[in-house]
Amino acid sequence: LSNGVGRTPAMGWNSWNFFRCNINETLIKEVADALVANGLRDAGYKYVNIDDCWMEKRGADGEIQPFKNKFPNGMKAVADYVHSKGLKFGVYSDTGNHTCEGYPGSWGYEKQDAQTYAKWGVDYLKYDYCGMEKTTVSVRTSYETMRDALNATGRPILFSLCSWGSGQPHLWGQEVGNSWRTGIDLFAVWDAEQAKRLKLPSFLQPVSTAIKQQEQYAEFAGPGGFNDPDMLVVGLEGMYPYGIVQECPEHIPGCKPGEYISRDRWGRVGGLSVTEQRTHFAFWCMLAAPLILGNDPRHMTTSTLDILLAPEILALSQDVLGKQARKMWADDTAEIWTKPLSDNRIAVMAFNSGEMTRDIELLFSRDLSTESKNWERDVPPPGGDACKDKDRGCPGWAQAGECKNNAGFMLATCPFSCPEGCPFST
Ligand code: GLA
Repeated sequence: LSNGVGRTPAMGWNSWNFFRCNINETLIKEVADALVANGLRDAGYKYVNIDDCWMEKRGADGEIQPFKNKFPNGMKAVADYVHSKGLKFGVYSDTGNHTCEGYPGSWGYEKQDAQTYAKWGVDYLKYDYCGMEKTTVSVRTSYETMRDALNATGRPILFSLCSWGSGQPHLWGQEVGNSWRTGIDLFAVWDAEQAKRLKLPSFLQPVSTAIKQQEQYAEFAGPGGFNDPDMLVVGLEGMYPYGIVQECPEHIPGCKPGEYISRDRWGRVGGLSVTEQRTHFAFWCMLAAPLILGNDPRHMTTSTLDILLAPEILALSQDVLGKQARKMWADDTAEIWTKPLSDNRIAVMAFNSGEMTRDIELLFSRDLSTESKNWERDVPPPGGDACKDKDRGCPGWAQAGECKNNAGFMLATCPFSCPEGCPFST
């Protein structure tokens, strides 16, 4: 969307993944302080976004009102504080009658809500897609209504669409929003096997599934509008799922199939290894995905911070060309992804999902898509099977070929390092 914002993928924080509905003014202020103190703001994470559950009801004049007990000084006071820290402020609403947690949505109040947000100083709107059961308008129309309402305020507000892929938003997203969710909510496990073991509810998906979905949408990403595989799960050592279980996870005593299991009963499960967190982050940067943190920035380990602040990797995300990486080659355990960058550069990422360390040779004079077989050779891991059984703690992400779900990088400049010309179309 040409609204002057979101030319590169949005960077910031959102309350949902870690805090769910447990949000209030003090928390938001503390998170803003933490983003400044730990260097995240200066690295580009500038949006502080409040997700669902901030809105209680509409006043007699129709104006949306926050919960008094959570935000006693109103939303403008929170926005002012966030702005005073050199950050930007975001809120959440919904196309329908109610949000996904059942609070008032913007259906029928789009113009008024947009004006209210502008009055408060809102810089970012995440717009969800619950509560539409009784409506007949298309997904696209419901988002266009809010786009027009936001445009009419004259305030540049980054517009983040969240229909979870419903209505094929990749086909029209560039004209309507600055990003569009391509799938269901991300959960902090790597693969479908683990998701199955944890018996996750069907509206949550593992990281590798979200990555696989992105290939088909690559061509639709560009400056001002990006595919969104959901917020980051870096630094979430476990999340609280919930939902109706078809089969009961072993760790929930007294559970019956078909029953709704609340977050309290489910407990803390999942979590990515440090290596997987790096790879997840690397993929989001390569895929030109929004980088919206879902952790608690007030309490971060150094490994989390190292991942989120890695300047070379962030530079890939924020490159002005705004292209999304594509998978150029793959075999059972390795993949090569390339992302065209500005100034005729290309980022090359090697991803190793196997149990063995391996070298992946890149021959730049060849066409990556057809020469795959000559490309790689298996090598035994140094020092025996060190990496074989453990997916935790394998070191290094600048080198391609470390084991299990690891990613390595190199940067090529074309045509200089490509003797026979640049093998990738840019
Ligand atoms: C949906 C969205 C999530 C989050 C919740 C809030 O599930 O996909 O990102 O905003 O709603 O209820």
